[in-house]
Amino acid sequence: VTAGAADARVRVELGPRSYDIAIGPGLLGRCAPLLAPLLAGRRVVPVADAAVLPLHWPALRASLEASGAAVAEPVAVPPGESSKDFATLAQLLETLLSRGLDRRSVLVALGGGVVGDLVGFAAAVALRGIGFVQAPTTLLAQVDSSVGGKTGINAAAGKNLVGAFHQPLAVVVDTSALDTLPEREVLAGYAEVAKYGLLGDEALFAWLEGGGGAAVVAGDPAARARAVEASCRMKADVVARDETEAGDRALLNFGHTFGHALEAHAGFDGRLLHGEAVAIGMVQAFRLSERLGHCAAGAADRVAAHLAAVGLPVRPSDRGLSPTPDELLAHMAKDKKADGGRLAFVLARGIGRAFVARGVDPADVRAVLAAS
Ligand SMILES: NC(=O)c1ccc[n+]([C@@H]2O[C@H](COP(=O)([O-])OP(=O)(O)OC[C@H]3O[C@@H](n4cnc5c(N)ncnc54)[C@H](O)[C@@H]3O)[C@@H](O)[C@H]2O)c1
Ligand SMILES: [Zn+2]
Repeated sequence: VTAGAADARVRVELGPRSYDIAIGPGLLGRCAPLLAPLLAGRRVVPVADAAVLPLHWPALRASLEASGAAVAEPVAVPPGESSKDFATLAQLLETLLSRGLDRRSVLVALGGGVVGDLVGFAAAVALRGIGFVQAPTTLLAQVDSSVGGKTGINAAAGKNLVGAFHQPLAVVVDTSALDTLPEREVLAGYAEVAKYGLLGDEALFAWLEGGGGAAVVAGDPAARARAVEASCRMKADVVARDETEAGDRALLNFGHTFGHALEAHAGFDGRLLHGEAVAIGMVQAFRLSERLGHCAAGAADRVAAHLAAVGLPVRPSDRGLSPTPDELLAHMAKDKKADGGRLAFVLARGIGRAFVARGVDPADVRAVLAAS
């Protein structure tokens, strides 16, 4: 089968760095026609999450070989956030270079956001920059991390502090790859899908609320394809307007100022996934918007009702966490230092109508935290 009617194509318009996101069920096994123009005659080195390798590499390998590429043996990266570090990056680069990587070689990242960020950054710095293709296999990576060109690793001082903007040559999104993803990871990615509706697409949120969301979580192929396409379309639009986050791209951080503070409190020990923190943070962002009079009362409850209905946490106690408001404010202040001293909140005038607010009074933030 080649790309059929069920497939969607989203273009990320960035001048000479433009690329396509192809979305469809079973795409890993039939993306040769998409990849041939990019890869034919070139050396391709796949780098995969070790847990994903046995599940999805065979299908992708067949497509890469059919595209006319010279396909090297895949490099496996241990699963987990701890692989986004200097040691793993160094080892990966040494392995690639010892295998004779050249300027026309292309890396392929197969896995979730961890592998996508790591491999994208390796591609950005190897030989001063070579091409790479994203083949995301988590919902979070399919709707968020594989699109937009942010790549990088973590440092002792914090997450994602070392990196580069490096756009992929293409993104191959096989929505069937999600069939093997644990439900908790599906839900964490779903929080980012809901985020797109909440920040800029009320119709998307209404569809999710009206049963689309439950269908996405339950594994309905059409619902998953629709949700992933709508999400990628919005991210692609925002990134095309603001590639390096000088302005509008900050909207994509809706729920993230609160969410990052809670993640820092939880200590990245697996008790709280990023998407779960974002779900809680989005409810808090709506509560703050209501409190400041930007948004009519009731929106926060509506958001919380939907997120809870699909199975996401909506308050810290849902994950056994009880941070004090001051502790969370201290984490936010640290985040703010990393961002040049600005404590920016993404607030909303209603569902689908987010905006960036500066100079929010910490007393209002404290009040929202104390009540949630
Ligand atoms: N670059 C960006 O713009 C951006 C945006 C958001 C998040 N991120 C980064 O993304 C990372 C999180 O990504 P993630 O949530 O995908 O986590 P992840 O890559 O750690 O994947 C989550 C888990 O799912 C497993 N897995 C992946 N695909 C699977 C599949 N199809 N079947 C079964 N298991 C599978 C992995 O082995 C892992 O254990 C973080 O490091 C975050 O900083 C980057
Ligand atoms: Zn996020």
